[in-house]
Amino acid sequence: MRTDYAIGIHDLSFSTTSLVLSHAELSRHNGTDLAKYHVGIGQRAMSVPTLDEDIVTMAAAAAAPVVERHGTDRVRTLVLATETAVDQSKAAGIYVHSLLGFHPNVRVVEVKQACYGATAGLQFATALVHRDPGQQVLVIASDVSRYDLDSPGEATQGAAATALLVSANPALVEIDRPSGLFTSDVMDFWRPNYRSTALVNGKESIAAYLEAVDGAWRDYSAQGGLPLKDFRAFCYHQPYTRMAFKAHRQLLETCGEAPDDAAVEHAVAATTGYNETVGNSYTASMYLALAALLEGEDDLTGESVGLFSYGSGRVAEFFAGHVRPGYREHLRGDAHRAAVDRRRPVDYPAYRELREQTLPTDGRWHDLPHQTQGPFRLAGIRDHQRVYEAA
Ligand code: COA
Repeated sequence: MRTDYAIGIHDLSFSTTSLVLSHAELSRHNGTDLAKYHVGIGQRAMSVPTLDEDIVTMAAAAAAPVVERHGTDRVRTLVLATETAVDQSKAAGIYVHSLLGFHPNVRVVEVKQACYGATAGLQFATALVHRDPGQQVLVIASDVSRYDLDSPGEATQGAAATALLVSANPALVEIDRPSGLFTSDVMDFWRPNYRSTALVNGKESIAAYLEAVDGAWRDYSAQGGLPLKDFRAFCYHQPYTRMAFKAHRQLLETCGEAPDDAAVEHAVAATTGYNETVGNSYTASMYLALAALLEGEDDLTGESVGLFSYGSGRVAEFFAGHVRPGYREHLRGDAHRAAVDRRRPVDYPAYRELREQTLPTDGRWHDLPHQTQGPFRLAGIRDHQRVYEAA
């Protein structure tokens, strides 16, 4: 069915944590050649949360500027995607709903499928807006990525939240149809309910991701998608930024093209700026790549951008976004750069101490120290309930 209006991303805002650990500092601790981090995986630093920061505080911080600019009147659905949930039952988005003063006539739901969740939220949102173009949907992706200390995954940790306002006649990016989909049951990365850190078969996860690029693209083409040559750039899920380059090489091979280094650079290099310093923000990561691309130097008006979302376990989706005329006037580059730049550097011992602190589980009242410099904080745990407040 065709509509006479576009549907897509009307506003995009992201937030991250108050602390940052550089890979230079990590390599001083573990003796790893810094070039492995800077060149081999393409990471320079990772965002680290304070004790009073979590997916809720980041989500609210990402969404607050969107609410400030557009209000809440037209938002009737709030989707929060995460794979690092703070409760097995209650949707984290309800805390965000409360912190940001949404009216009660909103449905709030949490979505999970590893790093793919936000894309599911975005696609569901476009369908809701299609049903009623007067409505807007707020889709928030928020994650804190944690691997075991001294494991290979540790260097790829990070944390961030992105808030996408989905509407008819979007200011930034129209989400095109169709999508290429690819799902199969693999154990490349997972986190059982009793663990605070993820388990990962590192090399298998890379192979699983590349297989999904191939599978999702083939389905995208079979569904009548655009040819490769029509795309100006590609935003891939970035568990570490070098993965985007590997992914694009795979796509070129799938399309029967030579995996030429210059072509790969041209397609991907402008998407990695935020992720290389924030680290893996799981389901938020592809949307940080999109922010970096849109805020970059090139004028992308009218261009098609390929978006590849990957969630271990595994579900993948390839789809296209069409950049809207006038999009530059609605970007938030200054605020995003400020969020990244104002993080306080921590040394390795301070990071390790933070990692070893866990929130109390005894049901008594515990107030948490005020450490965040963000606008919202987890003030304490009382009777097994998380208590949030404006900072
Ligand atoms: N200088 C430059 N490059 C170097 C280097 C050096 N001194 N030392 C190593 N490298 C390169 C390697 O050649 C390799 O490149 P390649 O992938 O192109 O072959 C890269 O750095 C990583 O090195 P490797 O030895 O494979 O790293 P690792 O065993 O520490 O594992 C991951 C890397 C990504 C598998 C690991 O960090 C991980 O498990 N991450 C979490 C899971 C994940 O992100 N999966 C991705 C799909 S979702």
